[in-house]
Amino acid sequence: MFTTARTVLEKTQPGASPLDLFAAIESLKKSLNAVILAHYYQEPDIQDIADYIGDSLQLARAAAQTDAEVIVFAGVHFMAETAKILNPDKLVLLPDLNAGCSLADTCPAEEFALFKRAHPEHLVISYINCSAEIKAMSDIICTSSNAVKIIQQIPEEQPIIFTPDRNLGRYVMRQTGRDMVLWQGSCIVHETFSEKKIVQLKITHPKAETIAHPECEESVLRHANYIGSTAALLKYCQESSSQEFIVATEPGIIHQMQKAAPHKTFIPAPPENNCNCNECPFMRLNTLEKLYLAMKNQAPEITMDEEIRVKAWRPIQRMLEISA
Ligand code: 13P
Ligand code: SF4
Repeated sequence: MFTTARTVLEKTQPGASPLDLFAAIESLKKSLNAVILAHYYQEPDIQDIADYIGDSLQLARAAAQTDAEVIVFAGVHFMAETAKILNPDKLVLLPDLNAGCSLADTCPAEEFALFKRAHPEHLVISYINCSAEIKAMSDIICTSSNAVKIIQQIPEEQPIIFTPDRNLGRYVMRQTGRDMVLWQGSCIVHETFSEKKIVQLKITHPKAETIAHPECEESVLRHANYIGSTAALLKYCQESSSQEFIVATEPGIIHQMQKAAPHKTFIPAPPENNCNCNECPFMRLNTLEKLYLAMKNQAPEITMDEEIRVKAWRPIQRMLEISA
């Protein structure tokens, strides 16, 4: 079921009739033997045409298991890169190669290499929101849905570096009682929510539950009734008896929440300014039109150095084994 009819005139064919993008993408999917994987933060039309929608762990699993020849990744660069690390022989397409991640960008490889060298006894646990180079320097990868479980399995006496997200790191430390050395990275989207406006919303909607992604700052997390990954938040709002939710994460997820619980109300947590900065500017670079063009042109594709890929594969594989 599609939310809107999307048509586009192909500029290369003057006078051509409008192209039904949904039909064209469905047809390319068959001819390419492609699978479309989409993150919850993608625009609704992309979510609706995807074969699989999920959080970053679910999408990494879907990428590891697919037998399609082409993976069209509707998400950000590190997610498509993870799919390529797991599938070196497949063509992995990202509709817009500029769809990066502000959090991944806070951890440049050269600086992290020095940081790691300064902590030679430490195990490196990296949040999946990082580059292939950082993954290659890591012992285990985690996502927001399995970080607590993974840290709990590390022997008590083993010191840990956690990178790049300081907010998720702090949340995991609180949940596990473990001390960790935190890289001081963060996401511009999850640090934009206004504590003041969330508190005001809680007063005007006294029955609403506040649900938040652990990438949010402590000042927001302390008002949350439930904290979890995008998939966990989606599950929680279906199972909770509450009828109203203030949602402190990228509002793209609300499309699935509304589909799963149409009688409930979802209020996006407002940003500090009167802007749209609670929408991830990188995720939103992908559009249905660009997704169609990527499939038609079989580009842009994700490529990477084979030595880095092999090194980055190991800690991802460890994560998939530990959190199976
Ligand atoms: P999830 O692991 O919950 O999908 O989060 C990914 C992400 O980029 C959050 O900003
Ligand atoms: Fe990266 Fe933040 Fe966008 Fe998630 S929401 S992809 S962490 S910039």
